[in-house]
Amino acid sequence: MEQYGGLTPPPTSLAGRDCLTLAEFTSGEIRRILDEAVKLKALRRSRIPFRPLFGKTLAMVFQKPSNRTRVSFEVGMYQLGGHALSLSPQELQIGKRETPSDTGMVLARYIDAIMVRTFDDEELAELAGAADVPVINGLSDLHHPCQALADLLTIQEELGALEGVKVSYVGDGNNVAHSLAIACALTGAQLSIAHPEGHGPDPKIIELAAGLGATPVLTEDPREAVAGARAVYTDVWASMGQEAEAEERKRKFAPYQVNEELMGYATSDAIFLHCLPAHRGEEVTAEVIDGPRSRVFDQAENRMHAQKALLYLLLS
Ligand code: CP
Ligand code: NVA
Repeated sequence: MEQYGGLTPPPTSLAGRDCLTLAEFTSGEIRRILDEAVKLKALRRSRIPFRPLFGKTLAMVFQKPSNRTRVSFEVGMYQLGGHALSLSPQELQIGKRETPSDTGMVLARYIDAIMVRTFDDEELAELAGAADVPVINGLSDLHHPCQALADLLTIQEELGALEGVKVSYVGDGNNVAHSLAIACALTGAQLSIAHPEGHGPDPKIIELAAGLGATPVLTEDPREAVAGARAVYTDVWASMGQEAEAEERKRKFAPYQVNEELMGYATSDAIFLHCLPAHRGEEVTAEVIDGPRSRVFDQAENRMHAQKALLYLLLS
């Protein structure tokens, strides 16, 4: 026990598993990841070294740009005693020089876990199926599970609970919204999503969330979604890969901007969340994101603590 600095020692049911959507985990396993994240955050705050991943290496494959994911995984791996290396699209393009499964098989011969940020979820699943080491989705077109773990951690810290907490997501029914829906379903948070017509979440994801315990409420009215919410969340209107649609989306999404007027429909203690990067004046006003209700930088920090917990549990 001592050598784990007070953390519950592994192995756990999570050892060796992939994290592609969060839906592969039970509610109890999500709670376990969050519990370890809380402990790892406290250890880090106290500057107590904890290096259970000494000698282990994480490969980080990036097919899209990143700040938070790249830095939080690399620093997190270092803090746990391991090493991380980053592969850019110049070095590795999934499905271009070789098949996704060959990439997975080869990387697994050198390293202990693979984090992938990419476009196509099917290619990611193929790579993960071939690699016999844990594969973590660092954002794909459909999912952003590591973001959702940090979101849960932030909501729990700020509001004291997840079960029964009303969370509102306003904007594009994208990867971040999908993972939030799965995360809320697994932890009993009540999610309402407001989106413009034709930009709702993928019905397959809503079905998945329903099967995990909760169907998000979908509406085209942002005020209805935000009414009584204790956390109001938004994301960019055009995700990576949708740059050509950005101008058209600005017009369509304008009524979905999170501003003080919309925040007025939430509870008086409501917090504002955003996965970042943010576009002030588009999906959120500067007044809200830079105002007293905003927790976006705590949320960004929590990426590292949540991912360290995930790495620790998958790799120990
Ligand atoms: N939230 C998030 O994933 O940020 P990056 O794109 O900077 O990694
Ligand atoms: N939905 C955004 C999230 C960025 C972290 C995107 O995919 O670009």
